[in-house]
Amino acid sequence: MFNYLDSAEKVSRLLLRHDYLADRKLAMTVFLAAKMNKPLLVEGPAGVGKTYLARALAGALKAVLVRLQCYPGLDESKALYEWNYQKQLLCLQTAREGRSWAEAQKNIYTEEFLLARPVLKAFMSPEPVVLLIDELDKSDEELESFLLEALSEFQISIPELGTVKSRNVPLVIITSNNSRDFSDALKRRCLHLHIPFPGREREEAIIRMHLRGISPVLSGQVAEFLDRVRKMALRKLPGISETIDWARSILALNASELDRETVQCTINALLKYEEDVSALESRIEELIPDIDAYSNRAAKREALPGEEDALARFDF
Ligand SMILES: Nc1ncnc2c1ncn2[C@@H]1O[C@H](COP(=O)(O)OP(=O)(O)O)[C@@H](O)[C@H]1O
Ligand SMILES: [Mg+2]
Repeated sequence: MFNYLDSAEKVSRLLLRHDYLADRKLAMTVFLAAKMNKPLLVEGPAGVGKTYLARALAGALKAVLVRLQCYPGLDESKALYEWNYQKQLLCLQTAREGRSWAEAQKNIYTEEFLLARPVLKAFMSPEPVVLLIDELDKSDEELESFLLEALSEFQISIPELGTVKSRNVPLVIITSNNSRDFSDALKRRCLHLHIPFPGREREEAIIRMHLRGISPVLSGQVAEFLDRVRKMALRKLPGISETIDWARSILALNASELDRETVQCTINALLKYEEDVSALESRIEELIPDIDAYSNRAAKREALPGEEDALARFDF
């Protein structure tokens, strides 16, 4: 389906145009998943860009994004398909009397009475599709077996109707925050990708990509601060989404550099537990990077890195 994805570098380039900074490992795994028609199982802590990867891929591939958000109790009828019972009932009531049971049944188990849920919707789409199965670890294990059948053959068998084959093989992204493990069978079907927290340089590039107006001094300090914070033993380490929110709130205060007061006013955008806020406040001086290191560096890297520059700096 996505034949024009002919290299990992192409994946990186397309993602970059949709504001996603990929490294070589990520781009290579996405490339292989697309090439081999295998679902991609993306794991990693919250806020490192798992869901956003699927969004950016859909944009980059000009594909429709179909999303299945998982939760406890999610079953086949909400994930794959279900029959529209009300419509079937209405149809039977309005049908002329005297029809045989077999005749009536033939009419109500047709595509017209089928409610396509995300997986079936993705299979039936005439457009190319990126199917995002988000936070699969939140759902129950039974759902995995339904998905397995669908994702290994890219088809769904509906007892009353027959087998529905996918019109185009979608690019499937399954995400997990590792709250539980998956079956070996599911893991075997998928290519696996772990996204860790970004390093300082990558995070700074991501901050500047999302907040174009931020100064190199502030983006450098924020990225370094995060690097130090993630080495602490906190209850919940901040992800990239929190970093961006935090940088945004610092900008909202018109602050041009990090200092104790700015950090104290905005820290709730970064940390979500009071115990973490206290732990950070007790070490605030050593966490704030020295401004001098950044003022020197800023002059040299005033401009946002262009596409070639970014690809060169991040492995390509
Ligand atoms: N590699 C990246 N390039 C650009 N932005 C990123 C990247 N990774 C994460 N982000 C930013 O971080 C935010 C949070 O990512 P998200 O996909 O919601 O995390 P997750 O699904 O892993 O919890 C995204 O909305 C995006 O703004
Ligand atoms: Mg997510």
